[in-house]
Amino acid sequence: MLYTTDQGSGTEILWIHGYPLSSRIFAKQLEIPGVRHIVPDLPGFGRSATPDHDMTVDDYARALLKLLGERKVQRAYVAGLSMGGYIALALARLVPERMRGLILIDTKETADTPEARQGRYESVEKVKSAGVRPVVDAMLPKMLMPSAPLSLVEEVRAIMTSSTAAGVMTALKAMAERPDSTALLPHLDMRTLVIVGDGDTITPPADAARMAAAIPNAKLVTIESAAHLSNMEKPDEFNKAVQLFVT
Ligand code: MLT
Repeated sequence: MLYTTDQGSGTEILWIHGYPLSSRIFAKQLEIPGVRHIVPDLPGFGRSATPDHDMTVDDYARALLKLLGERKVQRAYVAGLSMGGYIALALARLVPERMRGLILIDTKETADTPEARQGRYESVEKVKSAGVRPVVDAMLPKMLMPSAPLSLVEEVRAIMTSSTAAGVMTALKAMAERPDSTALLPHLDMRTLVIVGDGDTITPPADAARMAAAIPNAKLVTIESAAHLSNMEKPDEFNKAVQLFVT
């Protein structure tokens, strides 16, 4: 069972968080009116149980599909941030008929380079010996703009450190082995919104522009003065873009 916030009524949006984060990153998105927000914690993150086996990106997608079934949701918009975007693309490949549309947030379609993949496995070893702290310390500065208020930085730190070591290691291996979705993009036959913070250095605006150009009729929105967590950093601008898209 995935710990899930299921709130509001209207068009369904399944929000998939990034790594190493939790459903709490979408707290401000719950304010978007006219929407049933379905916001799970992925296995090993937030309040969901830790996986006791390796998972692929497709396994995460299937766990979310099961959740939609349990919640009696036939079709939903699927909104994924970063690693959540990798999983959203897996859902678009596996079960496009269950999707009203796709919202790709600060993410990319490409697989890891060999160097990035090697870095993931080095991180797995670090987490094994030292816990999630080194991963959090290395990633936190890239999540938000350097000018982000300290309270927001501390909120993100708290969310990241709530991740379990097993959850983080499982996600690292899944991301390292994820497929390249480049070939899928021109075949996506669904409404698509691509959102990116103009200061995102993890999945920069060039990634978003490339995806939007490859997906038929995709809409691209760039959020100013926001980094990787554009939804947390500029919730008003972000929510307006999503609301316009889904209602
Ligand atoms: C994320 O925010 O989910 C991660 O930065 C994704 C990644 O490491 O590729």
